[in-house]
Amino acid sequence: MISMNKENDILILGIESSCDDTSASVIKNGYLLSNIIAGQKVHEAYGGVVPELASRAHQQNIVPVVDQALKQAGVLPEEITAIAFTRGPGLLGSLLVGTSFAKGFSLATGAPMIDINHLQAHVLAHFIQEYNTPYDPPKFPFLCLLVSGGNSQIIVVKDYLDMEVLGQTIDDAAGEAFDKCAKVMGLPYPGGPFVDRLAKEGNPDAFKFSKPRIPNFDYSFSGLKTSFLYYLRDQLKENENFIEERKADLCASLQKTIIDILLDKLVKAAKETGIREITVAGGVSANSGLREALMQTAVKYRWKMHIPKFAFTTDNAAMIAITGYFKYQKGEFTGMDAVPFARMDIRV
Ligand code: KG4
Repeated sequence: MISMNKENDILILGIESSCDDTSASVIKNGYLLSNIIAGQKVHEAYGGVVPELASRAHQQNIVPVVDQALKQAGVLPEEITAIAFTRGPGLLGSLLVGTSFAKGFSLATGAPMIDINHLQAHVLAHFIQEYNTPYDPPKFPFLCLLVSGGNSQIIVVKDYLDMEVLGQTIDDAAGEAFDKCAKVMGLPYPGGPFVDRLAKEGNPDAFKFSKPRIPNFDYSFSGLKTSFLYYLRDQLKENENFIEERKADLCASLQKTIIDILLDKLVKAAKETGIREITVAGGVSANSGLREALMQTAVKYRWKMHIPKFAFTTDNAAMIAITGYFKYQKGEFTGMDAVPFARMDIRV
């Protein structure tokens, strides 16, 4: 049975628990009513996400986060039309918490479940509408540079739920490159935002790090990480204060190298496909240097560039709810036998 609220509004409750953020959001007819995100500080001491600690924290957070999202939206559980949850890709223990919650909610309220591909949701974050905010979404077909802690991909988006990966990383993701190099410099986890902040005070041309030679539209970041590590090791032999003395220059040069690698392939993809409607998504798209470089590149190649709001770049349930809204309209539901997937292709 599909539950409907009094006004026949489509109210989607979105649940995100793929990594280390527990998030819940309510979207009404495509418009955002609430988007609550609880981060997990417990991982900071370990320099990376500890899967078992992440799933335990999700268990503690999920009920209060959903409660807050519903209250902020002014919506009762029984008014929810459908519940959308991240099925994958992500950490299995973390995904299980969101999936189990969705099943419980569905059983209790009668709202059907919609399973969501986290990668598709990052791409569709551009379609979240907000009251009293201009709405200028990308037009199909568009290219999306999806850059996060787990992915670096160039995607051709033909329709809301019709996407194809043109190229992707063959090893580390761009976010991992930021985080691993930041760790070597003694910066806290996740290091991306710290590198971003320090890079503003440094010289991006101070140091040159190697760029990969990878065919087609694929990426590679593990070579950069290694060359960064070896360079620091050599310099520290000469001067033990090297990192402290040159931290801002190191951050600026590292950031510039990552941005150059990302943009080289994006420009190539835009040229070869003839698509000039370009978007960016995922946690790394919060990077101020990348945002600036994308805007400059857009002017140079006459792209129409779409950059999402900060709140919709990192993991959040609003993107899960909006994807659920599109799947609801196509009648794509899932049943109680749904299990999460650690790995998932963007087309699934
Ligand atoms: O999409 P996301 O929230 O989730 C995962 O994929 O886990 O992305 C997190 C990644 C981390 O690697 C983080 O360091 C990176 O996004 N990130 C940034 C910035 N803000 C977040 N990287 C560079 N500059 C930033 N300002």
